[in-house]
Amino acid sequence: MTRTVIITGGTSGIGKATALYFAKNGYKVVVTSRNPNKEAEILEDFEKEEATVTFYELDVTKEELVKEVINKTVAKFGKLDSIVNNSGISLGNAILGETESDELKQMLETNVMGVYYGMKHAINAMLKTGGGTIVNLASIAGINGLYATALYNASKHAVVGLTKGASLDYATQGIRVNAVAPGAIKTDILKNAIESGTYDVSAIEALHPINRLGEVEDIAKAIYFLASEENSFMTGTILSVDGGYNAR
Ligand code: NAI
Repeated sequence: MTRTVIITGGTSGIGKATALYFAKNGYKVVVTSRNPNKEAEILEDFEKEEATVTFYELDVTKEELVKEVINKTVAKFGKLDSIVNNSGISLGNAILGETESDELKQMLETNVMGVYYGMKHAINAMLKTGGGTIVNLASIAGINGLYATALYNASKHAVVGLTKGASLDYATQGIRVNAVAPGAIKTDILKNAIESGTYDVSAIEALHPINRLGEVEDIAKAIYFLASEENSFMTGTILSVDGGYNAR
C-alpha cells in the first residue's frame, strides 16, 4: 500500500529535497508552507520530476491549523504514515547579552511548539491507524553549543528532548520517533546567518572535518531512512549528518 508523508516547510531547502525524495520512492507527499504563493512553484517542481504533490497552507505555530492539515491528510489518503517536522527559523545570531528576547520567543513558537503540535496530532492520528513514524529536524546546534547561537541552541535542544521523550512514550505502540542533526547545509537559513555577518562561508566549512557544507540531498536521504521501512529498529535516535562535526 502506498504510504503518505507530510513535510512541513517543504517548499524550500531541506524540506523540498526531502519531499522530492519521498515522492521518488513512491510516497504520496503532502507539502505544507505558510506562504500560499509557493503552491504553484512546488507543483511545477514536482511536475518536472514526474511526481505529484498535495499542497496545504500551514503556519506551524497555529495548533488548530496543524491538527486540521493532519485530519485533511488522513481524510484524503486514509492514513498518515510519516510526518517530517522540518519548519524552522534561525534568529538572534549574536552573543547572548546582545540578543533580543522576542527572537527567542519566535524561535520557541516555531522550532519547539510547531514541532510539538506536529508530533502530538500526528501521533494521535497514527494511533488510530496502526502506527507511523516521526522525524524532527534537530541540528548540530541541538547537541552542542555554537558561538553566538545560544537561542537557536535552546530551541534545537528542545527538539532533541521532545524526540527522545516521545520515542519512549510510543515505543511499543508502533510509532518510531527520530531526529536528524544536520551540520551546516547550503540553504536560505544559513544564507541569513552569513548575511547577518556572524559567520563567513569558509569559517563555517572549517567547522566540519570534511571541510565543506552539506547538500540538502544528504539530509533528505537520512530523513527517508529514519521514516521509511528501510529501518524498523531505530527510535529515539538523533542521527548526525554533519561532515564529522560530532566526531571531535
Ligand atoms: P529553509 O529556510 O529553506 O527552510 C525552513 C522552512 O521552514 C521554510 O520553508 C520556512 O518557510 C518554514 N517555516 C518557518 N517558519 C514557519 C512557520 N511558522 N510555519 C510553517 N513553516 C515555517 O532552511 P532549511 O535549512 O531547509 O531548514 C529546514 C530545517 O533544518 C529547519 O528546522 C532548520 O532549523 C534545520 N537545520 C538546518 C540546517 C542548515 O544548515 N541549513 C542545519 C541544521 C538544521
